[in-house]
Amino acid sequence: MKKILVIGACGQIGSELTPALRKVYGTDNVVAADLMYPLKGELADSGPSCQINATNAQDIADAVKKYNIDSIFNLAAILSAKAEINPMLGWNVGIGALLNCLEVSRECGCALFTPSSIGAFGPETPHNMTPQDTIQRPKTIYGVTKVTGELLSDYYFKRFGVDTRSVRFPGLISNVTLPGGGTTDYAVEIYYAAVKGEKFTCPIAKGTYMDMMYMPDALKAAMDLMEADPSKLIHRNSFNITAMSFEPDMIYAEIKKRMPEFVMEYKFDALRQGIADSWPDCMDDHCAREEWGFKPIYDLSAMTEDMLKVLKVKLAK
Ligand code: NAD
Ligand code: SER
Repeated sequence: MKKILVIGACGQIGSELTPALRKVYGTDNVVAADLMYPLKGELADSGPSCQINATNAQDIADAVKKYNIDSIFNLAAILSAKAEINPMLGWNVGIGALLNCLEVSRECGCALFTPSSIGAFGPETPHNMTPQDTIQRPKTIYGVTKVTGELLSDYYFKRFGVDTRSVRFPGLISNVTLPGGGTTDYAVEIYYAAVKGEKFTCPIAKGTYMDMMYMPDALKAAMDLMEADPSKLIHRNSFNITAMSFEPDMIYAEIKKRMPEFVMEYKFDALRQGIADSWPDCMDDHCAREEWGFKPIYDLSAMTEDMLKVLKVKLAK
């Protein structure tokens, strides 16, 4: 990767992936793009940026040509719970952006990273140690876009030689940008509530396990996969990756160890709970570990320590 375009740069992942890429590849070599424009803060100040509506292929082609791009991180999507409220929007953004990125990548010779998700699985999938290759019959529009995206990306690799690569991200926990309307958002929001001294009402029921990952491990995974030796990749779209699996009581207990006054109560949200119940409890990610050396650093305890430390400084400002 020498010249990189990040589409959806203002989101939960893009707002941290863009600076991380700029640190490694040089500020002038990473272009931040989003539908929301102009960009603000560090994203706007630290390197080139442009407006892209990813459902318009010409916007992507123009940016790729203008900046001589060789690698695209396509992060434009509508997350699971939000997409269920407006399924057509979920499909149009998820698949529209991907197809446009695939076509531009085919024409211009770009490598392409588009995240899939634990949402690519459904109730018929084995929930415990979910295999890399298994049943994928998701019941959400988000999941339908993710399975379609995995198939389309593999098709473009096999049919046209486009260098498509992807991971099935679990729920991502971070402290820069709040999540955009997913089912795993509670695992971010709980830390904000704790640091603000507020009681947290958990929308996910006790005992509901889901895979999760701290953002630094997710950023490293995306960058490592895009730099991986292609001859080692048996799979491409998309690799299971996970760093931890927990249910709400476990994250609550980790925070309470450090902030004994913190209180969480349960009031489950039917939409999010239904989605969470259909997703894996924990995935088997040995293919990612073997094929390109995926190895996360943060477990629940180390992540909690860091999240509370960072948010205490951030929210005190
Ligand atoms: P997000 O909702 O936080 O950000 C998405 C960004 O895309 C936003 O900045 C939005 O303005 C932009 N966008 C929306 N429509 C656009 C369009 N038409 N053109 C250009 N930009 C557009 O999402 P995220 O959490 O950063 O997720 C990025 C990718 O990772 C998505 O594919 C998502 O499904 C996947 N993923 C995320 C998680 C997670 O926990 N955050 C987990 C699994 C997979
Ligand atoms: N965090 C994402 C969501 O909940 C998982 O893809 O939608």
